[in-house]
Amino acid sequence: MVEIGYKGKIFKIGASVYEPAEDTFLLADNLDARSGERVLEIGTGCGLLAILAAKAGAWVVATDINQAALECARVNAHAHGVANRIDFRLGNLFEPVAERFDFVIFNPPYLPIEPREAFGTPLDLAWEAGPDGRVVIDRFLNELSEYLTPNGHALFVQSSLTNVEKTIRALGANGLRVEVVARRKLSFEELFILRAGASF
Ligand SMILES: C[S@@+](CC[C@H](N)C(=O)[O-])C[C@H]1O[C@@H](n2cnc3c(N)ncnc32)[C@H](O)[C@@H]1O
Repeated sequence: MVEIGYKGKIFKIGASVYEPAEDTFLLADNLDARSGERVLEIGTGCGLLAILAAKAGAWVVATDINQAALECARVNAHAHGVANRIDFRLGNLFEPVAERFDFVIFNPPYLPIEPREAFGTPLDLAWEAGPDGRVVIDRFLNELSEYLTPNGHALFVQSSLTNVEKTIRALGANGLRVEVVARRKLSFEELFILRAGASF
């Protein structure tokens, strides 16, 4: 069990759970969840982002396809005193939810990888995202508007490895506006935080 810190808060990371990294922290730095909002985090991992949203006073549904991640996130939510504000659900993208949300958060898998090179373990699914790195994000973009309230918005990570322009075009095709909230150059990629919604 590893522990990481973010702005003075400690989070435990189980063996098969994504360890928060630059992408997590860039999203966390720009997370503007508000008190009373209904928030969905897809792919919560150790729960760091969901917990920050809950600490801001939001009501959160946090999902993951990795059962070990949900168990880890539950432990962290208890430790931070917000377990009663987070509903943890197992499942693929929007499958575990039927309701609409004011705010959707997602740090998706985006590493381009050929199927023959993929491992597909629960931990590998945190970053493996098909030959063009878009297998998960394209489904997310196509379904997102069905799960947003009229003034709802999403905040999510994209990488220069996976064609950010294509993401912006896909959002437009689904009737959503988009803005680049933050970007950060790393050694082998540039990370972007995008906001999307019908009106924000
Ligand atoms: C890059 S990690 C991010 C984890 C955490 N949100 C963070 O920022 O540290 C991606 C997470 O999404 C989960 N995931 C991958 N594909 C998913 C899918 N189709 N539906 C739901 N969760 C998924 C992974 O198990 C992993 O926990």
